[in-house]
Amino acid sequence: METIYDILSKEHKIVLGMFEETSGSISKEALFRIKAEIEPHMAGEEKLYYPLLEEKEESSDAARKAHIEHNEARALMYELEGMDENSEDWTTRLNELKEAIMHHVQDEESKVFEVSRNILGQQKAEELARKYLEFKTSYREKIEAGESLA
Ligand SMILES: [Fe+2]
Ligand SMILES: [Fe+2]
Repeated sequence: METIYDILSKEHKIVLGMFEETSGSISKEALFRIKAEIEPHMAGEEKLYYPLLEEKEESSDAARKAHIEHNEARALMYELEGMDENSEDWTTRLNELKEAIMHHVQDEESKVFEVSRNILGQQKAEELARKYLEFKTSYREKIEAGESLA
């Protein structure tokens, strides 16, 4: 069965691929598509995965740092949403977002996953995968229904 690591890594590849595909000139529309991939992923990690790591001393720093990086990515995406896609600032900020996400993914797959493999057993990692996928499904349904995510 798939573990949480398999699923998160797969999604990381999708997002990085979306940045590559449109490299050079990412339109606002392309940014919205990227954002729609990233948001449920970050929310799921924050709701189900990071809290397990924050509980343990050996992984709490890595999880807290990852959470901060999510908020930095959110701030950049929010800023980009309000910008003109033809401006120079747009390209600068977009590259910052891409760098930030690449850096976060690298950190997550090396540091975070590594420490987490010592904490969560195989069974727990599989159970977490199942819960994460359920969370994402309901997150998407709520968005489509226009419901609040709180
Ligand atoms: Fe991730
Ligand atoms: Fe993350």
